[in-house]
This record gives sequence, structure tokens and C-alpha cells, in this order.
Amino acid sequence: MHPVLERHGWRYVNCNVWNRGVGHIAGNVNTQRIRRFPVVTEVCVQYVFEARIRGVPLKQWLLSEWRRSGLPLRQANEACGVRDAAVRKYSDQTHLWYFPPAEAMDRLVRYANQHGDPRGRPYFSLDERHPITGAGWRRMRSKFNCPHGVTNVWERSAVRGEERIKLEGGRAVHLNQKPLDLMERIIAASSEIDDVVWEPFGGLFSASLAAQRRGRRACAAEIDPTYFQFGVRRFEREDQQLRLLASN
Ligand SMILES: C[S@@+](CC[C@H](N)C(=O)[O-])C[C@H]1O[C@@H](n2cnc3c(N)ncnc32)[C@H](O)[C@@H]1O
Repeated sequence: MHPVLERHGWRYVNCNVWNRGVGHIAGNVNTQRIRRFPVVTEVCVQYVFEARIRGVPLKQWLLSEWRRSGLPLRQANEACGVRDAAVRKYSDQTHLWYFPPAEAMDRLVRYANQHGDPRGRPYFSLDERHPITGAGWRRMRSKFNCPHGVTNVWERSAVRGEERIKLEGGRAVHLNQKPLDLMERIIAASSEIDDVVWEPFGGLFSASLAAQRRGRRACAAEIDPTYFQFGVRRFEREDQQLRLLASN
């Protein structure tokens, strides 16, 4: 998936690992036969759909505007008042690139427009008339708020008990049902109230239910009619419970 996502404008950020723990395989693995260590993890990979300026990703635009100003790259450090961090972090063209904070961007923009070749001004402009401001730059950044104490390793058992959606006989409806708390964690960190969350491979719509609980607007799709119906029922049950709570 990685090259396809990159080709279509997505930038790789991070890989999170959900460890369901040894309980996930208890009694289900014949260690005499298996030819690898038993798998108890799933990965949840974070990509961001990057804003583009005149068709190019932000990191590329940033470097090309600096180059267009005719200033040597190392002067970006002077512009930001740092020894070497500006060049190292902001001109990198790999996934190690840092998005300059608004204050650093303000300084880079001001410096390039003051000291760069006067013929090419304005530098770092979206409308070719005014240079971008720090606040305008900040708005181009994908959203993310890391809660304190959360890392990229998520220790959490597989979905069990009440949360697991089951058929009449007690069998799980969907073998891939994801935990609501992990879905809430992702959604809360990477979106804001009223944002739209799109779940294209819905299953039982765990992400959409989590999104609704977090005050986001959820849209989803699911190709299998049985999963779809069981998924929709989760919302109906949620509505019922909320009505009941409100009436008490
Ligand atoms: C890994 S499961 C999602 C499980 C879900 N996150 C949950 O917690 O219930 C992926 C789902 O995508 C559905 N699917 C596969 N291809 C699809 C398509 N082209 N359009 C919509 N849904 C699709 C499958 O039927 C399956 O239920």
C-alpha cells in the first residue's frame, strides 16, 4: 500500500502497534506445527493527506521557495536563530521532514523577503502578492494532538464481552471488530468536534460509532449486507440508550 498511498499524496507518519496479548492465542496455537512466532499484534498506520501548494507537497515548496530567493541554505539557520536545526529539519525531503512551527515559519518568510533576491519577491506567497503568515501556515498542518502518556504501542485485549457483536448462537458476527476505545483514541487525536470521519471499510462501523461518541460526523461504507445490518443496529442501540438516559 505504501507506494500507492504516497503516489496519491499521502505522507507516512507513524506505525502504531496494537498488542492483543498472549490471551489472544491461548489454546489456539500448536507450537509443534507453527513455523513462526504466533502473531498477537495488528498495526495501525498513520498517513496524512498533505496540503499542496501549486501542486507540490509543503516540504518541497518550502525548499524551492528558499532556493528561489537565491539565499544559501545554511542561512535558514540564521533566519531562525538556531545553529543547524532549521536546515536539518525543515529542508529534509524524506519522511524525517519537520513542519516548521508558525514562529519559525514567520522568521524564514521575513528573512527571505528581506534578504532574498529582490526580483523574485514575494517569497513564500500563496497568492503571489503577500507572503504567507505564521497563522496561515499553521492552518495548513494536518491535525494531531497527542494525549499525555500514550505511545505507539497499544496494550489492549481483543474485543470481548458486551462490546463484541454476536449472532444468536454466541458466535462473533465479525472477526475483525475493532475496539471502540482505540478508535476513539485515533479520532480524538487527529480530528476536532464536527469534523467528518470517513470509514470506507466499515465492517460493524466501530470507527463511525466512536466518531459519533466524540462529536464528529461519521460517514461509512460496507459491502457485506449482514455486517452492514449489524453495524446499523449498533447505532440504533446507541440512540435507544441515549434516549433512555435522557428520560431518567
Ligand atoms: C477489517 S474489516 C473492518 C472492521 C471494522 N473496522 C469493525 O470494527 O467492525 C473490513 C471490511 O471491509 C469490507 N469491505 C471490503 N471491500 C469493500 C468495499 N469495496 N466497499 C466497502 N466495504 C468493503 C469487508 O466486508 C469488511 O467488513
